[in-house]
Amino acid sequence: MSNSNLDAAWRYHNDTKHSYQSIRSNPHYLDWRNQPQPFKVYPKLDAIPLPRQVPQTGMAALSAISTIPGEPESAAVPEMNALALLLYYSAGVTKQKRLPGGESFFFRAAACTGALYEFELYLVCGTLPGLDAGVYHFGVADFSLRRLRQGDWRGVLADATGAEPAIVRAPLVIVCAGTYWRNAWKYQARTYRHFGWDNGTIIANLLAMCAALRLPAEVVMGFVDEEVNRLLDLDTHREVTFSMVAVGRTPADPPPPPGEMQRLGLETMPLSREEVDYPVMREMHGSSSLTSAGNVRAWRGKTPAKPLSATSGRAIRMEPLSDLEIRLDDIEQVILRRGSTRQFAREPITLGQLSTLLDRATRGVSADFLSPAGGQLNDVYLIVNAVEGLSPGAYFFRREEGSLELLKEGDFREQAAYLGLEQELPGDASVAVFFLADLRPILERFGNRGYRATQLEAGILGGKLYLAAYAQRLGASGLTFFDDDVTNFFSPHAAGKSAIFLTAIGRAARKRPGC
Ligand SMILES: Cc1cc2nc3c(=O)[nH]c(=O)nc-3n(C[C@H](O)[C@H](O)[C@H](O)COP(=O)(O)O)c2cc1C
Repeated sequence: MSNSNLDAAWRYHNDTKHSYQSIRSNPHYLDWRNQPQPFKVYPKLDAIPLPRQVPQTGMAALSAISTIPGEPESAAVPEMNALALLLYYSAGVTKQKRLPGGESFFFRAAACTGALYEFELYLVCGTLPGLDAGVYHFGVADFSLRRLRQGDWRGVLADATGAEPAIVRAPLVIVCAGTYWRNAWKYQARTYRHFGWDNGTIIANLLAMCAALRLPAEVVMGFVDEEVNRLLDLDTHREVTFSMVAVGRTPADPPPPPGEMQRLGLETMPLSREEVDYPVMREMHGSSSLTSAGNVRAWRGKTPAKPLSATSGRAIRMEPLSDLEIRLDDIEQVILRRGSTRQFAREPITLGQLSTLLDRATRGVSADFLSPAGGQLNDVYLIVNAVEGLSPGAYFFRREEGSLELLKEGDFREQAAYLGLEQELPGDASVAVFFLADLRPILERFGNRGYRATQLEAGILGGKLYLAAYAQRLGASGLTFFDDDVTNFFSPHAAGKSAIFLTAIGRAARKRPGC
């Protein structure tokens, strides 16, 4: 099915909505004996260890998440230490928890639904200082690279992206691929939405680390899927490329034209005894795939404009903290500290903190689907439970004006908890931040692939919110939600929009002794 037949995205979106009824009527249970392995392992490839003792960048986290590195004056080519920082702080193991049976569970740098870590990172690079040109898999478990192909294959990406300028000039491209089963074991067909979210939180960290290393970076979603998947030797029934990030600027010539690409058929360890297939996800992926460089060139750029509605309610000016007032905890410290808050204290945060969060997280993402720069597909709505200087209520974030529009005043803690799939977190948090998107113009412009872009953008912004919260010593947690109830709650303002992502932010409850 083609990218322009929008029935596919609407069908997938509507069929994977959560509702009060759908949650209660779903007979799915977790089959622990068939739980997928969290790591992709190539048993026959040699490991190339990444350096572990690497000097930190020291850049303040709030600067790193909000800075888009401009065009470098000279070359910006990552070497091995920079590679190690980029990979570790976006997808590496940052925490280890002992389970009652004596085994360990490994948490990673970026938040991920169910801690199921369905995303793999691959590197496609020319010769870098300390690393030969090649295609590599990032092995999270042993913090190593494994070479899948030798030589400079960036020309395949240049062709597949219709000569996307950031890709053509990048010495390194980090390609992100999602493995359906690893997440669908728990979340079934909704996993394709999670691809956007969980890839997005990784990219939020990656972009922050690129900024800290002063490496230009651009998120690229426009590419001929089949060519990129073939380059990575993916079994596309099980794993597919979702996005890529062009990193750095090379002073060298554009990559050479690709040679003939042999199939590799590399062996990988099975994830589970058996895997359950959810064909609707593969259908959604297939019908949002691009098939030629010409398609890709027509696809990228020109984000649909969003006319800003007149303010119907009271508008409150935001009060973001200046660079001089922000906390200077560096990006590495903040990523190591980040975790999903398991209980909020029901204590207030300040308007300055909330303003800083929203301001820093939404200053723009450099992406091939966001043009001109600064565009955004998602809109931000909030339920404010406890923010000093703001009445509790429902708000719309008027990003361009730096203000919050009060949609309705009142104590909505109970509704926030309900909307977040009847979990306490958004009811106890100081604020619940909802991303909603009007999918109609987005799909009209970008076809079904606009659905991927909308989910990914929300994941990136949600990932930045996580970092902006932890940079201010606050807590945060991503959450899932009852789709249509969220839209109804924020209507009439949000009528026609779709719920895409939810993050709760506040002060973490102090752990009781012994807990
Ligand atoms: C998009 C997204 C949705 C999430 N949804 C929930 C949720 O509904 N309930 C919950 O308790 N945690 C939720 N989480 C938190 C994850 O469970 C958590 O990220 C994961 O266990 C990894 O732990 P960490 O974030 O502390 O590293 C979500 C996280 C993300 C990124």
